Amino acid sequence: MIPKKTILESDPPIELASALALKEGNSKKPIYAIHKWWARRLGSVFRLLLLGATHPANRSPWLKNGAFFEKHDLSGIKVFDPFVGGGTTLVEASKCGASVVGVDIDPVAAFVSEKELETVDEKLLQTAFDDVEKAAKEAALKWYRTILPDGRTGTIIYAFWVETIKSAENG
Ligand SMILES: C[S@@+](CC[C@H](N)C(=O)[O-])C[C@H]1O[C@@H](n2cnc3c(N)ncnc32)[C@H](O)[C@@H]1O
Repeated sequence: MIPKKTILESDPPIELASALALKEGNSKKPIYAIHKWWARRLGSVFRLLLLGATHPANRSPWLKNGAFFEKHDLSGIKVFDPFVGGGTTLVEASKCGASVVGVDIDPVAAFVSEKELETVDEKLLQTAFDDVEKAAKEAALKWYRTILPDGRTGTIIYAFWVETIKSAENG
């Protein structure tokens, strides 16, 4: 049951949101690494919005004093995200037991969100990962090798791949 007036309308805990965002921004949750979805917002921000939207007004101190991290039961609540994007809203809602529905005009967004919410057979996933690793590791790694100043072979972490073309003007 959603209260008539919620924390979101009375006293949203902006400072808490900001402090959590700083921490999470430097240490993203593994589930959201499923796809480098552009413009992905932080899980903690959506969890705060969900808790704020489902609890009665003027309880910001309660959220700040640790309730944010407690187990919350939003079963019985249905969350609909008509612009599901990377799925953060629905994942956070689902973690609190809400039932969730999402749509998106972009099939990649719909696919990514669906996969985040699906249950996973870890053994099957590991086997599939091992197969991809076996087939692609060497082919990919050869582009990440370099000779270090002391002559040893090293592996680089980041690279910019730049295509160069000859224009008609400079021949
Ligand atoms: C910023 S993302 C939404 C983030 C998301 N609510 C979350 O919790 O992470 C915006 C999404 O809106 C989708 N979108 C834009 N126009 C739309 C439309 N007319 N119908 C459905 N989805 C649309 C885009 O494809 C994009 O994935």
